[in-house]
Amino acid sequence: MATAQQLKALIESYTEHDPERFLSVASQIAAHAARAGKIKLSDELCKLIEEARKKQNKQPLLSRSIPIAQPSGDLSGLFSASFPKTRLSDMVLDSELKQRLERVIFEYRQVDRLHSHGLSPRRKLLLVGPSGCGKSMTASALAGELELPLLTVQFHILITKFMGETAAKLRLIFESMKQSRGIYLFDEFDAIGAHRHTGQDVGEIRRVLNSFLVFLEQDDSMSIIIAATNLEDFLDNALFRRFDDTLRYNIPTPSMTRQLIENRFSNFSIVRLNWNLILESTKDMTHADIVKACEDAAKEAVLDERKKIISTELKQALTQRRRPIINS
Ligand SMILES: Nc1ncnc2c1ncn2[C@@H]1O[C@H](COP(=O)(O)OP(=O)(O)OP(=O)(O)O)[C@@H](O)[C@H]1O
Ligand SMILES: [Mg+2]
Repeated sequence: MATAQQLKALIESYTEHDPERFLSVASQIAAHAARAGKIKLSDELCKLIEEARKKQNKQPLLSRSIPIAQPSGDLSGLFSASFPKTRLSDMVLDSELKQRLERVIFEYRQVDRLHSHGLSPRRKLLLVGPSGCGKSMTASALAGELELPLLTVQFHILITKFMGETAAKLRLIFESMKQSRGIYLFDEFDAIGAHRHTGQDVGEIRRVLNSFLVFLEQDDSMSIIIAATNLEDFLDNALFRRFDDTLRYNIPTPSMTRQLIENRFSNFSIVRLNWNLILESTKDMTHADIVKACEDAAKEAVLDERKKIISTELKQALTQRRRPIINS
């Protein structure tokens, strides 16, 4: 019979939802029975364990690996984890971009169906476009929609902090993708490009880029990998080829700007807003700056104890937020 310790371990593994530990304790009980001469019981237990393992391997892919909490051990300092609640509907996107992101979500949810036909979902994405147009927000929205953790790797920190061992650190990150399903965002991906031209340690940067490309190509995990950059110029063809999709972001059109402002002021009254004046003031502004200007105007209204947003105030906030855009 099982020892008291083994019974306790079985119950603990059950309450902790740890099927691996459960089966490992069950194997110990089977071995214990064999040693005690209870061969029939041992054989029966072994068969049950084998069947359980087979069933476990048949579980849908999406329910297998467990999302990680904050990275620890070797992974600490390499990326930060968060669990965003952002949804795609929180974003204002042009219809093509929206469709492409919906397709990423749809394909990822259908991974078992695709795999059964030897196909894979789109999960290696390159996001390109000016600052403040929604690249990082997209990573959050995908995480929110797919209920996955968002693991953000700041590329320039990776390169500067771990100079000389960046490729080894990258390997750890790519290994983590297999174990812990998530959205892995390589932000400021252009850090590689920026460093490539500085003259210092060109060899190291080249090695990092090459390692990244090799790891990316070999990756067959269930994680979504996103690289985001402002600078399209430094991205060569070798890079584009390795991604399943390249998504381009741009400053909002007037109708998108209007939607952005309407969303932002959903709790305020904007019926009398002078749209011609406002849209004139938002020309060439990024989503991020428009949103911030709306928040400035909202604060003024709240502090003034009114629900109504005043056109001239919003125009002033927009003018103050206006800054030159860094084009890709
Ligand atoms: N498409 C969008 N729809 C709604 N809000 C947006 C959109 N894009 C940006 N914003 C607002 O601007 C903020 C900053 O955007 P985000 O961080 O995604 O920009 P980014 O493209 O990643 O910029 P960077 O290149 O500087 O990292 C968001 O948190 C959000 O408030
Ligand atoms: Mg960003």
